[in-house]
Amino acid sequence: KYEDPPKICCLGAGYVGGPTMTVMAKKCPEIKVTVCDLNERRIAAWNSSALPIYEPGLQEVVEEARGRNLFFSTDIESAIRECTIIFVSVPTPTKKSGIGAGEAADLTYWELAARQIAAVCNASENKMPKIIVEKSTVPVKTADAMAAVMAAACKGTDFQVLSNPEFLAEGTAIDDLFKPDRVLVGGPQTPQGLAAIECLANVYRKWVPTERVLTTNLWSAELSKLTANAFLAQRISSINSISALCEVTGADVSEVGHAIGVDSRIGPKFFKASVGFGGSCFQKDILNLVYLCRSFGLPEVAEYWHQVIVMNDWQKRRFANAMVATMFNTVSGKRIAILGFAFKKDTGDTRESPAIDVCKALSEERAKLAIYDPKVSREQYYEDLGKEAMEKIEIDEDPYVACAGAHAIAVITEWDVFKTLDYQKIFNSMSKPAFIFDGRNILDHRKLSEIGFTVWAVGKCMKKVLDTEGSPSP
Ligand code: UDX
Ligand code: UDX
Ligand code: ADP
Repeated sequence: KYEDPPKICCLGAGYVGGPTMTVMAKKCPEIKVTVCDLNERRIAAWNSSALPIYEPGLQEVVEEARGRNLFFSTDIESAIRECTIIFVSVPTPTKKSGIGAGEAADLTYWELAARQIAAVCNASENKMPKIIVEKSTVPVKTADAMAAVMAAACKGTDFQVLSNPEFLAEGTAIDDLFKPDRVLVGGPQTPQGLAAIECLANVYRKWVPTERVLTTNLWSAELSKLTANAFLAQRISSINSISALCEVTGADVSEVGHAIGVDSRIGPKFFKASVGFGGSCFQKDILNLVYLCRSFGLPEVAEYWHQVIVMNDWQKRRFANAMVATMFNTVSGKRIAILGFAFKKDTGDTRESPAIDVCKALSEERAKLAIYDPKVSREQYYEDLGKEAMEKIEIDEDPYVACAGAHAIAVITEWDVFKTLDYQKIFNSMSKPAFIFDGRNILDHRKLSEIGFTVWAVGKCMKKVLDTEGSPSP
C-alpha cells in the first residue's frame, strides 16, 4: 500500500539526521531524500562547501548525492506533504526545569515536530499513508504518546509510528552507516504496523545484509537504544574506576584492559581509560533510563545505572585534582596548555566534553589556560565556558603556541596529531619543571620522561613505568 520507492524526508539536519540521510541517499539513488531544518543557517551550510558538522568522509558523500536525490531544505511543510517516510531527528536534551529536571528528556521538539506533521497531513488534499520514524533517542513509550497526538490531531490519514534508533558514533559516522552492526526497526505488531516495518526495513536492505536488519516491537527498539548506550558507558566507567586503583597499586590499566578484553565473553573494545566519557548521548540516555526506572517504581535499578554517571563525574574531577596536586598543590597564575577540547577525536562536537569540566575546574584554581583543538570553532568555546571565563582564556590555532611558556600540558582529546608533535621542541619552550598529563594514554611516556617531562598518565603508576627494575614502589 506504500508508494514504491517511498519518498523520504527527515526533520532535523544535525549530527544524526544529516549523515544518516546522506548515506541513505547515496545507497538508494532511486529514492528522493529531503533533509529539513528550522534553522536556515544550518540548511544553507548543508547546501554549501562548508558543511555545518565535521565528519570524516561526509563531504564526499554529500557532494555525490546532493542535487541528484539528496536535498536540504527549510520547506518542512512540502517535505512532509510529499513524503511517505518521515524521520524525526530533533534534539531531546535533558530537562533543565520542571518535573524530572536533570534527568527526564525534554520532548518539546519531538512533540512540536509531531504536531507539525499532523497539521500538514490534516490540511493536505492527498491522504497518502505516512510512516513516522523516531530517530532521536527518546524515553521508552514516546512513540505511543506521539501516536496519540497524531491520532487526535490528524483525521483521515493512515499513519504508523516506528522506532529506528541510530547507533552511529561521531567521528566514524560514515563508516558506521555504510556497515552497521545492526539496524533496528521497531513498530506495532499489527498488520498495518508490520507493513510499515517492512517498508522501512526494505530501504535499509538495499545496502545492509538482511540478517543485520532486526525487527522488534516498539518498546524493545526504544529500550535497546538506551540500554546499548548505558552498557557502553558502563564499560568506560568500569575501566576508569579500575584506573584509579592501578595508579596506587602499580598495575597498568592498559595491561589490565588488554588482559580482560581477550576473554571472548568480555571483548576488547571500549576499554580505554580516559579523563571521562562525553558526547551528547551517554549521560543523557543514562539519566533517561534512571528517570524511567524511578517512574516505574524500580529505585534499585535506577541507582545501579546512576553509578555510571557518578563514577564519570568523579573521574573528570579526579583528573583536574591530580593536576593541581602534582603541580605542588597550586596552579594559580600558571599557564596550562589544553590539547583537545572536543569530546573525542575526529569531531568538532563538544557536547558534554570532559574538557569543559577540566577547564572550569582549572579556571576556578586561577590557572591561565591556552587551548588548542583542530576542529572546535571559536564560538563554541564561548558557549561552553562562558563569556566571562573566556576573557582570561587563550585560544590558539597552533599547539606549539599553546604550549610555549606553559607549566603543564593536559591531553584531553585523543587526536592523532598529538602523538607526533615534537615534544623536545615543546619541552624547550616550557617553564620548568615541565608537566604533562595524559588523559587518554596516547603518548610515549618513557620518551617524554627521558626528554625531562614530569609525566602523569591515567591508570599508570608513573614510578613503575620509569623503574627499569619494574618493581612497584610502595
Ligand atoms: C555513542 C555510541 O557509541 C553510539 O553507538 C550512539 O549512537 C551515540 O553515542 P558517540 O558519543 O558519538 O557514540 O562516541 P563514542 O565513541 O561512543 O564515545 C563516547 C565517549 O566515550 C567519548 O568521550 C569517548 O572519548 C569516550 N570513550 C570511548 C572512552 O573514554 N573510552 C573508550 O574506550 C571509548
Ligand atoms: C566464573 C568465571 O566465568 C571464570 O572465568 C572464573 O575462573 C571463575 O568464575 P564459574 O563461576 O564457574 O566461572 O561459572 P560462570 O559460567 O561464569 O557462571 C557464574 C554464574 O553466573 C552462574 O551462576 C551462572 O548461572 C551465572 N550466569 C552466567 C548468568 O546468570 N547469566 C549469564 O549470562 C552467565
Ligand atoms: P542530533 O545530535 O540528535 O542530530 P542536533 O542538535 O545535532 O541533534 O540536531 C537537531 C536539529 O533539529 C537541529 O539542527 C534543530 O534546528 C533541528 N530541529 C529542531 N526542531 C525541529 C523541527 N520541528 N523541524 C525541523 N528541524 C528541527
